[in-house]
Amino acid sequence: PPVDIFDYIVFGATGDLTMRKLLPALYYRYRDGQIPDEARIIGTARSPLSRADFQGRAEKALHNFVKPADLDPDTARRFLDLVHYVSLNGAEADSTWPALKSLLAEAPADRIRVYYLATAPGLYGQICENLSNQGLVTEQSRVVLEKPIGTDLQSANAINDGVGRHFPENHIFRIDHYLGKETVQNLIALRFANPVFERLWSSDAIEYVQITAAETVGVEGRGPYYDKSGALRDMIQNHLLQVLCLVAMDPPGSLEADSLRNEKLKVLHALRPITPDDVATYTVRGQYTCGKEGDKTLAGYLEDLGEDATSSTETFVAIRAEVHSWRWGAVPFYLRSGKRMAEKCSEIVIQFKAAPWSIFATKPPANRLVIRIQPDEGVTLSVSTKDPTPTDSLALRQADIDIAFEKAFGTRYPDSYERLLLDVVRGDPVLFIRRDEVEAAWRWADPILQGWAEDKVKLEPYPAGSWGPEAARALLARSGHQWHEDM
Ligand code: BG6
Repeated sequence: PPVDIFDYIVFGATGDLTMRKLLPALYYRYRDGQIPDEARIIGTARSPLSRADFQGRAEKALHNFVKPADLDPDTARRFLDLVHYVSLNGAEADSTWPALKSLLAEAPADRIRVYYLATAPGLYGQICENLSNQGLVTEQSRVVLEKPIGTDLQSANAINDGVGRHFPENHIFRIDHYLGKETVQNLIALRFANPVFERLWSSDAIEYVQITAAETVGVEGRGPYYDKSGALRDMIQNHLLQVLCLVAMDPPGSLEADSLRNEKLKVLHALRPITPDDVATYTVRGQYTCGKEGDKTLAGYLEDLGEDATSSTETFVAIRAEVHSWRWGAVPFYLRSGKRMAEKCSEIVIQFKAAPWSIFATKPPANRLVIRIQPDEGVTLSVSTKDPTPTDSLALRQADIDIAFEKAFGTRYPDSYERLLLDVVRGDPVLFIRRDEVEAAWRWADPILQGWAEDKVKLEPYPAGSWGPEAARALLARSGHQWHEDM
């Protein structure tokens, strides 16, 4: 069913995120009948564009980022009618606000308003203050904050304080697009609708867990942002920790937002702190150098940044995390993410313990559950079966119990933003991050960043197109463990 009529006001509307993700996601929801024709999508940015100019850019974005088969010209035209533009510097309390004010005033005062902040995070507080001073924060207003929320605990608190002065916590939607991925939400179904897994879900049966988000892209045009951020802030502090929470948490009492978020928070609090002195033992950081992809030569990170660049920013991280709780004991949760790796793949590997004893000629390998977040979404459980080739002994052979979701359900996998953008309109925060989660995640990440800043562990080079530095392998080998691609 369609959501209530809304105005979506995007700050930073000429940016990459709006074009690549927000407009295409809203188009799909509109096409599927979930967005009423009276809704408005109001882009704002500093560029002095006309409404028609911005609609032209939006149209181009649809052509570039919506699958051709899904782009119906008539639907696209009607969708573009929802799109408006106001030239505005949201961070300045200047004379550009009246245009937005009068546009918003054309709608009834109780219409749902979503202020989507896709600008530099340092501006979030200022924009909210201006919205409030201009009298634009109504009872029905919500604000969406894109990551990164700060670069450490202190800056995150400053941002959250700034926004929190003008919006109550339950009207603040901190987006982590990994939570919008179907397969990440499916973790909740897999774990809590299938006792067969949940009964084994602890250190009793699980030897270790791996969570990988590997990308083949480099920093592309995002060097200036990325070089200040690095893989820990860009991927681990948010996306991978959120996935870790869903893998490690206890069953929530219900699917109500705070019920779920309370359980995630407990996991974040139970993470074993990694002090600056521990970083050499528990973390690996790397930076890609030039490499090969087939015949193609791939540039190194410094080359990607530009001529004469120097940088000690990590483009790869591997960490041995531990959740110190009764359920998990000291089970390692290996987290890994990097740019310019061998494959684009986000997945969770649950490595079960091996049988204590074998009655077979060869010891059966331990079972493994692989949850593929993307691409090729699905779940695979590896099992030992009897080898059907006739021999005189009962020999074993490995096989997979496999569900490939797209094939199983014959349905399109929506982009993560599609669900999240409309959840904000519906006022459902279950897939968004509460302030205390952000804080707990930074509290864990900060000492690691500090240890790195003090050079307590070497920045390891790895060739573009590889699985990362050798040290990442060694991190697991110490405990007799292996990354999935080596198994
Ligand atoms: C973003 C990061 O949050 O996630 C990017 O800023 C990264 O650097 C992206 O490329 C990865 O998202 P996905 O959905 O492609 O795994």
